[in-house]
Amino acid sequence: MKSVIRAGIIFALLLFAMACSPESPQSTWDAHGPVAEIQKNLFLFVFWIAVVVFIIVEGGILFLTFKYKRKDDKLPVQTHGNLKLEITWTIIPAIIIVIIAIPTVMAIWDTQVMPEEENSLVVEAVGHQWWFEFNYPTEEVVTANELHLPEDTDVIIKIGSQDVIHSFWIPKIAGKVDMVPNHENELYIKADDPGLYYGQCAEFCGIVHAMMRFRVIVHTEEDYQNWLQEMRTPPEKLASGSDEDEGRKLFVGNCSMCHSYDSYKKGAYTKEIVSQYNRWEEWKNDKENSSIVSAPNLTNFGNRITIGAGIKENNYDNLVKWIENPDAIKLGTRMKNHASIYKNENKLTNEQINQIAKYLLSLKPSMESSATYNK
Ligand code: CUA
Repeated sequence: MKSVIRAGIIFALLLFAMACSPESPQSTWDAHGPVAEIQKNLFLFVFWIAVVVFIIVEGGILFLTFKYKRKDDKLPVQTHGNLKLEITWTIIPAIIIVIIAIPTVMAIWDTQVMPEEENSLVVEAVGHQWWFEFNYPTEEVVTANELHLPEDTDVIIKIGSQDVIHSFWIPKIAGKVDMVPNHENELYIKADDPGLYYGQCAEFCGIVHAMMRFRVIVHTEEDYQNWLQEMRTPPEKLASGSDEDEGRKLFVGNCSMCHSYDSYKKGAYTKEIVSQYNRWEEWKNDKENSSIVSAPNLTNFGNRITIGAGIKENNYDNLVKWIENPDAIKLGTRMKNHASIYKNENKLTNEQINQIAKYLLSLKPSMESSATYNK
């Protein structure tokens, strides 16, 4: 029995150490932006006060337990209440609360300040079961599950949802803020260093909540401009008769009612926002019979790092498996319930699935990709 308890304690400590390691991709100990930094410092401040309180209180309990433990059968002096003690242990916690409250309120103010919209990058983040939509209204760019940001820039994330309540969280940069349908929340963020960061939905939102993730790619200003340029550039022309071109026909016929794939076109931004909204309305009004649902925009999909909202690396093998049976990777995705290619009479052959995967991977701008994030 003792060895089981010991093993349990060691295991728990190991888990604790792993969760707290700054190397872990979602560690809040490794802040890369002013908001995460403020949150981390506030946590550490409260943590060390709690450690001191813990040592004093637990030390006092242990000390008194041993010092005054029963030595004989004599009844100790009976007292009722001690005014001095009562006042002391009421005032000390009150002072501690004030000491904690001051930096807490300051941190709330500092992280809630919204910079001027004109001098900031505004991105709309929309939660869906179970993926993230990202819209750049000024840049007229729309993408999904991979948020691209320039470094050292004030960013205002306008946060909403088109079904249930989700939560937007980038542990190393900022968070978390609820994504609520029919209500806009705002989050100020700024990323200090270029790199790849993990984001996660932090509010239980249904069966695959835990697999509702996203990536944040922070670029240098130059790389960010390149990325924007790429998002406005059409993919390479496909040779007629190639697997990719056959895949394109299959995709247009079977997938494009829900997935947009050509938002590089002029005017496509408004069209995508409107159709995304309409897809939501249609699904909301008749969940059973709606033939289309909100789905990630796949423009320049070939440049994405992941598939399935941050679940698997974006490569040919994973993509084929995903199209074949998304449930095997992420149980509960809406794609399988709604796309006709999963109904017996319309099932795709293996060859057709391969062709669609090849087509999707070919969706990247014809210009030489200059952004460093995909390497
Ligand atoms: Cu979306 Cu949890």
